[in-house]
Amino acid sequence: MSTSICVVYHSGYGHTQKQAEAVAAGVSAVEGVECHAMAVDLLHDPEATEWKTLDGAAAIIMGSPTYMGSASADFKKFMELSSARWMEQRWADKLAAGFTNSGSQNGDKQNTLIQMATFAAQHGMLWVNLNQLPGNNNSGGSVDDQNRLGASLGAMAQSNVDEGPEVAPTRADLDTARVFGERVARCALRWN
Ligand SMILES: Cc1cc2nc3c(=O)[nH]c(=O)nc-3n(C[C@H](O)[C@H](O)[C@H](O)COP(=O)(O)O)c2cc1C
Repeated sequence: MSTSICVVYHSGYGHTQKQAEAVAAGVSAVEGVECHAMAVDLLHDPEATEWKTLDGAAAIIMGSPTYMGSASADFKKFMELSSARWMEQRWADKLAAGFTNSGSQNGDKQNTLIQMATFAAQHGMLWVNLNQLPGNNNSGGSVDDQNRLGASLGAMAQSNVDEGPEVAPTRADLDTARVFGERVARCALRWN
């Protein structure tokens, strides 16, 4: 039986969806893993079958744009609806991981990852971090480096606010997301 990994994401304008697709591609590239990517809107119905898919997953990777310095309201709604699972600690010992995308280089998006890691801890889940050395932090570096935003807690991406999802986030950020998806999948196989 293959190990199921869910990618749950919100994206208001398509940029974080591109990041989510890159994460899912990384997950799917690992043999023995089945990837279920789902827009968080599907989970706004507490009776949706996608909740059962989450229950059966070895890992849940969360993705949200950073809106006003934290996860978007749509993503937060999913978090709050998960409280029925929390009461039973039904997701305890699953792996959890997170990614976020914002308009500014910093944009306070670290706070979104901290919010997701705290959420995972409430559920008794085990947080998988990025594990990619920071790029673009020396005189030979560039914005084309993997992990150019220097994250550790999860995967970060930045999308210029005047560019559509066909060009943003950048290839470097999508590569960062893809390699992150592979890491979570490998960790899930090891943990399972
Ligand atoms: C309501 C709202 C709040 C935002 N707040 C932030 C913010 O706090 N920091 C930031 O850098 N960008 C902020 N942005 C910009 C978005 O993070 C950025 O446009 C992102 O690419 C949107 O992702 P999406 O297309 O997946 O929705 C905000 C955008 C919106 C619509």
